Amino acid sequence: MVVAIDGPAGAGKSTVAKAAAKALGFTYLDSGAMYRCVALAATERGRHPAELAPELWIELGERVMLDGRDVTEAIRRPEVSEAASRVASDPAVRTAMVAGQRRLLADGDWVAEGRDIGTVVAPDAAVKVFLTASPEERARRRAVELGADASTVLAEQAIRDERDRTRAHSPLEPAAGAALIDTTALTLEEVVERIVELVREARSHAGTAGP
Ligand code: DC
Repeated sequence: MVVAIDGPAGAGKSTVAKAAAKALGFTYLDSGAMYRCVALAATERGRHPAELAPELWIELGERVMLDGRDVTEAIRRPEVSEAASRVASDPAVRTAMVAGQRRLLADGDWVAEGRDIGTVVAPDAAVKVFLTASPEERARRRAVELGADASTVLAEQAIRDERDRTRAHSPLEPAAGAALIDTTALTLEEVVERIVELVREARSHAGTAGP
């Protein structure tokens, strides 16, 4: 079964997706980390992202490995966030990443997190969730995470949001049939409980036992 969790930066996707995967006993897929790896490799190697993307060996797990090197921290740097947003608007990069993500999701139980999981990567996902939160709350969370100034994060976030939402290829939007969850005033436990409930419902519709 695939649980697709999409939404903008700072909506709580990573925290929620990791916690939901743990609660359900599913494997967590961080698709954004893949775009971040392409951005990091292209910058460091001075190569065109689209040309490089299909060649990269990306391993996701406790640590993120890029061609055998641990880049877990490096891909979270602000300049990599910025580059990843640009790289992710290239259709050829997206094609390569989506193919890799579909290969992974073909087998087993997953909680996959990103921007286009429910719309493009896995439109048949049993459960689709679109997480949102107010822009101020999203910036506040990111600022805490990065140890940065909230107003700077808010300004940068607005630029990236606009780019992610208006790009021609796979713009950020809720998938058909996605459950919208606004996390602004919810605790992590409440959001995870809602997702576990959606999985239970999906299983009972499919006629199998619940979690
Ligand atoms: O979720 P994140 O911040 O790690 O994502 C990094 C960038 O990659 C972000 O600009 C959005 C983009 N992205 C995407 O376009 N599609 C995905 N499935 C995941 C991330």
